[in-house]
Amino acid sequence: MPGKTKVRRYDSQDVAAYLCGMKILMVCLGNICRSPLAEGVLQQKAAGAGLNWTIESAGTNGFHTGEAPHHLSQKVAKKNGVDISCQVSRKFIAEDLDRFDKIYVMAGDVMADVKKISGQKFNQQKVQYFLDELYPGQNKNVPDPWYGDEDGYVEVYDLIDEACAAIVDNHLSSISKKQTT
Ligand code: 4NP
Repeated sequence: MPGKTKVRRYDSQDVAAYLCGMKILMVCLGNICRSPLAEGVLQQKAAGAGLNWTIESAGTNGFHTGEAPHHLSQKVAKKNGVDISCQVSRKFIAEDLDRFDKIYVMAGDVMADVKKISGQKFNQQKVQYFLDELYPGQNKNVPDPWYGDEDGYVEVYDLIDEACAAIVDNHLSSISKKQTT
């Protein structure tokens, strides 16, 4: 019946929140195992959801600056249809707090490093444990696969995949909640 169909109303803020080029940084220690996976997986999921996000990654220790991701991270990503081979490791810097809207840390030691490197620029609103998207407020660590074998990389990939799906889902549901309030 004409006039009966409910039209979902989007105000300009909702549209901006959906379309805006949110900038997200994934951070681990070396930027060769965990955060390159998080960068590649979230890039793919965000693009699939039509989100115009910029997603990068960095490491706090700088030991692998200029290197490609670990070959086992590349392998597990490729098996899952994600190509991370072109990424290049770089060190996290305080200015990343200015450039990014959201900074996800992979673990507690990374959070401590990020606070130290950021100094005065540290912003609690922007820096969050990555796994808090799945387990809010629990500050859980993504295990570091660097010291282990291939199985560790597979486990970490699955966890990262789940958390990246949660990032997109949580974002989309926060937008639709706004429309119903
Ligand atoms: P990531 O793993 O932080 O997940 O990239 C590591 C890679 C290298 C080192 C530590 C962690 N490292 O000390 O060289």
